[in-house]
Amino acid sequence: MKESILVTGGLGFIGSHTVAGLQQAGYDVVIVDDLSNSDISVLDNITKITSVKPHFYNYDINDAGALSKVFADHSIKAVIHFAASKAVGESVLQPLKYYHNNVSGLISLLQIMENAGIKNIVFSSSCTVYGTPDALPVSESSPVKKATSPYGATKQVCEQILEDCKNFNSIALRYFNPIGAHESGLIGELPKGVPANLVPYITQCAAGLRDKIIIHGDDYNTSDGTCVRDYLHVTDLALAHIKAVERQLSAKQDNTFEIFNLGTGHGSTVLELITCFEKVNNLKLNYSIGPRREGDVEKVWADSSKANTILGWKTEKSLEEMLKSAWQWQLSLNR
Ligand code: NAD
Ligand code: WQD
Repeated sequence: MKESILVTGGLGFIGSHTVAGLQQAGYDVVIVDDLSNSDISVLDNITKITSVKPHFYNYDINDAGALSKVFADHSIKAVIHFAASKAVGESVLQPLKYYHNNVSGLISLLQIMENAGIKNIVFSSSCTVYGTPDALPVSESSPVKKATSPYGATKQVCEQILEDCKNFNSIALRYFNPIGAHESGLIGELPKGVPANLVPYITQCAAGLRDKIIIHGDDYNTSDGTCVRDYLHVTDLALAHIKAVERQLSAKQDNTFEIFNLGTGHGSTVLELITCFEKVNNLKLNYSIGPRREGDVEKVWADSSKANTILGWKTEKSLEEMLKSAWQWQLSLNR
């Protein structure tokens, strides 16, 4: 068995795929998740995939006493920190919830790591830190623009904290748009309530749980007028975390704070994604064009060449595979 890795938010969408990948790579995984946006059944499903049950603690990362105990009970070598609140719209309505959970949560975690003498942390950041980019594709040296939501602001503040805390080795991974689900059909995204993101909304429509998809605007300056995003498969994204942890465990970081963009380098419009979903899953979707959604960026895709060369990571899976797996996951939920 390799080193013990603590994964906060390890039962969530990206966390669960990363835990499965870490276990399959031989790591001992300790999960801390308060189930605020996940379900305990995910633990059994990870175990079914890997045949190894991860250690699990139903704790809030803000509970310093509980978290300290986890560090005392396990010989943790690195932390992958997914635990955060992530709904952009909710963050506008409840900014304090976001600053507390995302920013105070990180500070609390870092203090406990410092006490325990653990230096390595991989942090979930987001392409949202770039706002509306001046040039495409977006590289790590593109300017960070004023955040358009409290959620985005929390990611910027957290990155600043990590950059300032030079006694840690931290890697911020800026994800573009992760979608899809595990090939086993056992884990995937579990949105609570009405999904805000496009792909879970599409799969729920296809399953008859929602009436129709409203495309938020078709008058953008793009090939078909709908917005462009860089969608990547969640299992590809999960592997980048393992590469990042391995960089830390082998003391290869060039700086105490490093940033990597994680995307395919290719953008797809909303209409292209809908058409692809219909084609690969052989079904028809009910959709219509609505007004623009406030705060939406017209087009954004990643320059991930830094992750390609330095982390040795690149995406493998196509949009077709992402959308097939997303639909298989939705079907498994309906069974
Ligand atoms: P998710 O909500 O599915 O997973 C987050 C997990 O953290 C959940 O299981 C939740 O129960 C847990 N959690 C939240 N607050 C906690 C706390 N205080 N203590 C313990 N556990 C807590 O989200 P996800 O999509 O897997 O995202 C993971 C991370 O990646 C988040 O930090 C998110 O902001 C970031 N991110 C996500 C996306 C995306 O599109 N999904 C894009 C960019 C960045
Ligand atoms: C994708 C495209 C919508 C729903 C969000 C967060 C970002 C990051 C990723 C965490 C856009 C369009 C959507 C619908 C639609 N998360 N759409 N009808 O907005 O790129 O990014 O998730 O860090 O911070 O803001 O993703 O999936 O919401 O939207 O037309 O019902 O689909 O307008 O063009 P987005 P999304």
